[in-house]
Amino acid sequence: MTEELEAIESEATRAVNAAPSSEALEKLNIEYLGRNGRLTALLRGIGALPNDQKPLFGQALNAAKARLTDAVAVRTEALKGAERATREQDEAIDVTLPGRARPMGRLHPLSRTESDIKRVMIGLGFEFVDGLNIEGYSYNFDWLNFPPDHPAFDEQASFYVDDTHLLRTQTTAIQGHFFEAGRKPPFRVATIGRCYRYENMDATHSHTFHQVDGFSVAEGISLADLKGVLAEMMRGLFGPEVTVRFRPDFFPFVEPGVEVAVRWGDRWLELGGAGLIHPNILRRAGYDTERYTGFAFGLGVDRMPMRRYGIDDLREFLISDLRFLQQF
Ligand code: DAH
Repeated sequence: MTEELEAIESEATRAVNAAPSSEALEKLNIEYLGRNGRLTALLRGIGALPNDQKPLFGQALNAAKARLTDAVAVRTEALKGAERATREQDEAIDVTLPGRARPMGRLHPLSRTESDIKRVMIGLGFEFVDGLNIEGYSYNFDWLNFPPDHPAFDEQASFYVDDTHLLRTQTTAIQGHFFEAGRKPPFRVATIGRCYRYENMDATHSHTFHQVDGFSVAEGISLADLKGVLAEMMRGLFGPEVTVRFRPDFFPFVEPGVEVAVRWGDRWLELGGAGLIHPNILRRAGYDTERYTGFAFGLGVDRMPMRRYGIDDLREFLISDLRFLQQF
């Protein structure tokens, strides 16, 4: 049995020292030193030995186990070190590889248009304020001089949140909030953001779109100021050659009211409406209408990049399809 012990120990030691990986080493550990391992099996044979040999063999067996356990520990450390080194090498940056472009994000075409509009309007003296997406009925309609049961409502069917709140149909709803805050004229104020209407979607209509509204109250404001500001704004957005067209139109909150369009190529692009703020609104705001007048305009934002980038379907703006967005 002693010879068998020596044979097993030297075989095990050789195998342990040559173990190629931590996993292989763990297998050897179980094979020789485990509960059903080969050295442990020898211990069970001890009962068959003559009594005087039992203690000696027991000691030899324990000593062999201890040496093998040490050998396993030493090999474990060595393998760990080697494995760590390989991992580090795998992760190391290979400076000889050719460079790759970083995947960069970019601004949505509507965000770009929005910042262009702000840049131009701030240059014209407008200060931007934020409106509400869920608006009170009174700001969306009452403040804006909508007479009860007027056909103008038909164009502005909305999504109601409760009896008195809706998703705003026009950024013009900012006016009532601003007037209630009681600022003294003169001022030029603007807001830009999402609007919503209960509409069927197609290439040129959406239930969700964007508007920019601007208005100004001061002494002596006339339609000439409105035309001057809008023409300057359009030149800033579309280039110095752009032609702006004003045609009479009706909106309850302006008098007179106009429709605003710009010439683009061989067509007119209708952008929105404008006019002089209705005296009813100025009175409700508490301004002396003998002294103060105002202009206001509201333009669709989405159509500007459609024209500029040749986008023919408005729905693309809301879908966030990268194949579309990466073209801009
Ligand atoms: N809010 C109007 C619309 O959505 C557009 C508009 C017209 C805004 C005239 C104005 C304005 O501020 O003065 O159809």
